[in-house]
Amino acid sequence: MNNISAIILAAGEGTRMKSKTPKVLHKVLGKTMLKRVIDTAKAVGTDNICVVTGHKYETVQESLKGENVKFVLQSEQLGTGHAVMQADEYIKDNEDVLILYGDTPLIKADTLIELINYHRNENNGVSIISAVVDNSEGYGHIIRDKSGNFIKNVEYKDATDEEKAVKEINSGIYCFKGSSLKKALKLIKNDNVQGEYYLPDTLEIISCGGEKVNAMTIGDITEFFGVNNRVQLAEAESIMYKRINQKLMLNGVTIISPDNTYIGDDVDIGIDTIIYPGCVIEGKTKIGSDCEIGPDTRLINMTVADNVTIQYTVAMDSKIGSKTKVGPFAYIRPNSDIGENRKIGDFVEVKNSVIGNNTKVSHLTYVGDSDVGERINFGCGTVTVNYDGHKKYRTVIEDDVFIGCNANLVAPVTLKKGSYVAAGSTITTNVPEKALAVARNRQKNIEGWVK
Ligand code: UD1
Ligand code: CA
Repeated sequence: MNNISAIILAAGEGTRMKSKTPKVLHKVLGKTMLKRVIDTAKAVGTDNICVVTGHKYETVQESLKGENVKFVLQSEQLGTGHAVMQADEYIKDNEDVLILYGDTPLIKADTLIELINYHRNENNGVSIISAVVDNSEGYGHIIRDKSGNFIKNVEYKDATDEEKAVKEINSGIYCFKGSSLKKALKLIKNDNVQGEYYLPDTLEIISCGGEKVNAMTIGDITEFFGVNNRVQLAEAESIMYKRINQKLMLNGVTIISPDNTYIGDDVDIGIDTIIYPGCVIEGKTKIGSDCEIGPDTRLINMTVADNVTIQYTVAMDSKIGSKTKVGPFAYIRPNSDIGENRKIGDFVEVKNSVIGNNTKVSHLTYVGDSDVGERINFGCGTVTVNYDGHKKYRTVIEDDVFIGCNANLVAPVTLKKGSYVAAGSTITTNVPEKALAVARNRQKNIEGWVK
């Protein structure tokens, strides 16, 4: 959308979090709440985003280094209206302004787009997102006349009993005409129970100024769920997971136990993939179709092709090709490229290595800093010895090599095409093509030794 800006309030201290970390920097699904709100604003289409910081503002600003947002400082938290006043220089008369909160991370971009469309179609001075709730305690209440026209917002603490009985509440999220907001902010006062400059007081001011003010009522109140303590943080997390899992399921992914599956919102999963319980899938992970993931698997920034099986495994920042089987109990560390139709079995660790097609690393093996070709068999207990205490070195294993059990390959070293390594060998020099390398003592049997 065009001509839209956003002001995000993030100055509050959040004492109830009982944390050294500012409230808005607590994470929901691996992303800080504030970053979530910024990303949502960006998804609406604005690049004019102003974050109002206050409590621990250096930490908050530092967390957004490199992000295209402006910061203003509200050194004393004198109310939501006062917070928005600090952003005055970024409010443009001819732009619409969204008001969002760093501790209200579940608002959807689609809902904000709906709000802006509603706001523009109705030509409102300001449009509110409201909801009808059973328990309206703590919220601002929307007061209307007999014909249903908006009169004002009354904060719960300032409300009369009659006003408290009203069930339509203010979500705190608005779309203002920039010019109307700018003018109204100059007129709000702090003569209320809390002695604060209330942003919602601008609503009545704009309405009395002859502009239309109205609310768009939404059904899903989780969208403006605010986080004040860790119980609510967990609730926000759970709402978020459920939303994502539901979307994935509706798009053709089987999730066996959605309550025990944690998938980030930047994750992409193809159809007919099955996710077993206990999976945590994070970052920019992309999984193809017809895969079986889990149980109990953590994937971070992984690229996984089609028909892959990964169970009881931790894998990060790496690629896995189609039809490859990983686990149980494998550990794939960053910068590994495991191609098609490969087997990475139990208690195998792979780090910073390329593994060629049809290669098997079936059990109890460490492959680090290695370039591994095609059709290679790693015997159980193979170790690439990549570190001499100072530097890391690479191991090169060419196509069709066979490595017997319990071999140490001391890097830098190359096993040439088609060579064999005898079980129990410690290989310190290159093995020529098609040769057998034996690097161990022969067995000696001492007859009658026990007697
Ligand atoms: C606010 C609204 C209320 C609405 C509710 C929805 C006001 C006065 N009331 O109430 O109508 O129903 O949200 O949740 O706006 N903040 C600052 N600086 C300040 C004050 C607040 O940055 O000086 C931030 C807080 O950190 C918080 C947010 O603004 O994230 C909301 O402030 P809060 O005082 O909690 O307002 P509510 O009582 O929730
Ligand atoms: Ca609040």
